[in-house]
Formats: sequence, C-alpha cells, structure tokens
Amino acid sequence: MSRLRTAILISGRGSNMDALIAAAKDRNFPADIALVLSNRPDAPGLAKAKAAGVATAAVDHKIYAGREEFERSLQLVLETYRIEFICLAGFMRMFTPGFVGLWRGRMLNIHPALLPSYRGLDTHQRALADGVKIHGATVHFVAPEMDEGPIVAQAAVPVLDDDTPQTLAARVLAQEHVIYPMALQLVASDAVRIDGNRVLGAPASDDATLVVPDLTAAPRRIA
Ligand code: GRF
Repeated sequence: MSRLRTAILISGRGSNMDALIAAAKDRNFPADIALVLSNRPDAPGLAKAKAAGVATAAVDHKIYAGREEFERSLQLVLETYRIEFICLAGFMRMFTPGFVGLWRGRMLNIHPALLPSYRGLDTHQRALADGVKIHGATVHFVAPEMDEGPIVAQAAVPVLDDDTPQTLAARVLAQEHVIYPMALQLVASDAVRIDGNRVLGAPASDDATLVVPDLTAAPRRIA
C-alpha cells in the first residue's frame, strides 16, 4: 500500500501534530508524515517532531518581503520532500488564494469550534460569552476564506457551568486529537468525497446525540 506523503504545518506546540504522528506510526495508516514544517524556527513542536524521528524544516515568514515570496519557499520545500497532502495544525499564517488553489482538495485544517460558528480567534472565550451549551472542534478542507471549506469531521463537547476558556479549550483539544487522525485517515484512504461544500461517504450513526443539559446526571435543585 502506498501511503499519502503528508506534511504537517505548525506554528506552536504541536499537540495535534503529535496525535497525527502517533496515528501514522501504524504502518496500516494510509498517510505517512514525511515532514513537519513551521513558519517559526523556534516552534516547540519542531523539537518534538525531530524526537519522533520525523523530518523537519522551518521557513521563517519574517524574512520574506510578502506572502507570495514566503509561499514560494514553502512550496519549494514541500516539492523537495515530494509532499502530496498538507495538514495545518495550529499554523498561524493565512495563505493567498493562489497557494490554496495549488493544494485544493489536498489540505486540511483543524479549528477549535463547531464551524461555521466561531471562525477566527478566541473561540472558547466567545462561546462562553454567548452561553452556548455545546462547543467543539472541526476538521475541514482549506478554502481561500479563513475557516471555511468542506467539513470532514466534527466533535462536540458540553460546556460546563464552571468552565473557563482554559478548561473548555482542554476539553475541546482532547477531541481534536481524536478527530484529526480520523479525518486524515478517511481522506487519505479515499473513503470520502467532496460534493460542493459537503464531504460525503463517512460512516455516521443517526442516533448518536449529545444533549446538554444531561438530566440523567444527578440533578441538583437550585435554591
Ligand atoms: C488547536 O486548538 C487548533 O484547533 C488550532 O490551533 C491549536 C493548535 O494547537 N488551529 P496544537 O499546536 O496542535 O497543540
């Protein structure tokens, strides 16, 4: 079986990168993590990738005159490693429509919210401020507009009364680590197809629901 040569692009700690690398350790996983690439040479995730035996590279966006120049270098590195697929995992740069077009249908991103709600930054804080009861994470194909593109997988988590942005982020992040490898597996094994703005073909159970509040958990009377 030939495995899809995948690059993970990071800017920071790389916990989703860890989850993808761990999943791809299994020889039967349909993607091989052939490169971890960062726009920040000091990203903590780079050292972790190296320690896991994955090739790493840094393309520092700060030394380029503009986005096109930065992306040309990025593209050169990706071609050097014969990369076929990209997973963005906490990569904090926007791409030009030209670069997105080059990787159309071959680039995934993970976002810490149930898209299309809460695009952009500070998703957990905004979800708490809005009082939503269910929050979550989304893996989607990358489109030119930020946090848009066909959705491959989502995970929902309850929002608890005493949540802070940090506790909520941790609950969401644990699910990110589950759905990102799952989404890459589905895409890399051609188990799903893009149909307009939808990704079809993935198995789903029609009776799996998350209801919040959960009245089966010990109810308490509010005095
Ligand atoms: C994650 O919350 C991801 O959803 C967002 O950036 C964060 C990256 O975290 N895009 P990590 O670097 O994978 O730990």
